[in-house]
Amino acid sequence: MDSLAALRLQIEWGADEALDESPVGRLAVRAQAAAAETGTPAPPETFVLTPARAPLPVPPRLGMPLAMPLAMHMPMPMPMAMPAQQAQAVAAAAQTRAELRAALEAFTGCGLSATATNLVFDDGQADSGLMLVGEGPGAEEDRTGRPFVGASGQLLDRMLASVGLDRTKLLITNLIPWRPPGNRNPTDAEISICLPFLLRHIALVQPRYLVLLGAISTQAVLATKGGISRQRGRWIQAEIAGLDAPVATLPMLHPAYLLRNPTAKAQAWTDMVSLRRRLDSDAK
Ligand code: URA
Repeated sequence: MDSLAALRLQIEWGADEALDESPVGRLAVRAQAAAAETGTPAPPETFVLTPARAPLPVPPRLGMPLAMPLAMHMPMPMPMAMPAQQAQAVAAAAQTRAELRAALEAFTGCGLSATATNLVFDDGQADSGLMLVGEGPGAEEDRTGRPFVGASGQLLDRMLASVGLDRTKLLITNLIPWRPPGNRNPTDAEISICLPFLLRHIALVQPRYLVLLGAISTQAVLATKGGISRQRGRWIQAEIAGLDAPVATLPMLHPAYLLRNPTAKAQAWTDMVSLRRRLDSDAK
């Protein structure tokens, strides 16, 4: 392998920055520390993954795979579970809403929990059969720990009231239970960490109807990339793990969007009427 190819390979592995003057064999350091703990002799260093500007790796013996000698002497450490996998396991273990809430309170795998003032879990009537999912808390929700109590929450309350609904007739929650600093959109990583909790929340509540407010919660729950303007107002049967049956789901425009785009309120009104009709017809 010529030097250029070796450098390319290192860049591919992510070793694209020189951290020290001389290379450090991290695997050997770890092996020596483990050996010191157990009192067994440390395995010989076999190769060194170096930063791009440091000398090239010591070549292993011909025909010997790079990690082999080390792996033969001691088991490779298990990789740490990724936060999204941790979230999945923690959420799945919760058997009630109270347990899910407590699990979220204790969960530190999402950086947003460190910057938020309060966890915003849910609000309303869990056994009403109707569950609304927003995106994530804003400043007022973060301060009070309740979803949809700021300006967009007040608009949502008026929209619900216009079709005879209020918080005693539904449960409101969010995809993201902690406020993203400065009300920025959640990142893909934050969404993938929080989504297992939301899906478990839905499975524990077993709603008959699900309303997804805005593009971000719609895309996350339905695992779609489709735009909200095409999806809103169309009922679909969503299959969610842990639900006894697919749930009738209606994506709608987010109230915060309606505050910025008042002309879209006509569409939101149509969707609210569609929700009311569905509730009424199924009640007959
Ligand atoms: N926007 C949301 O999506 N959720 C809230 O709780 C508040 C504003």
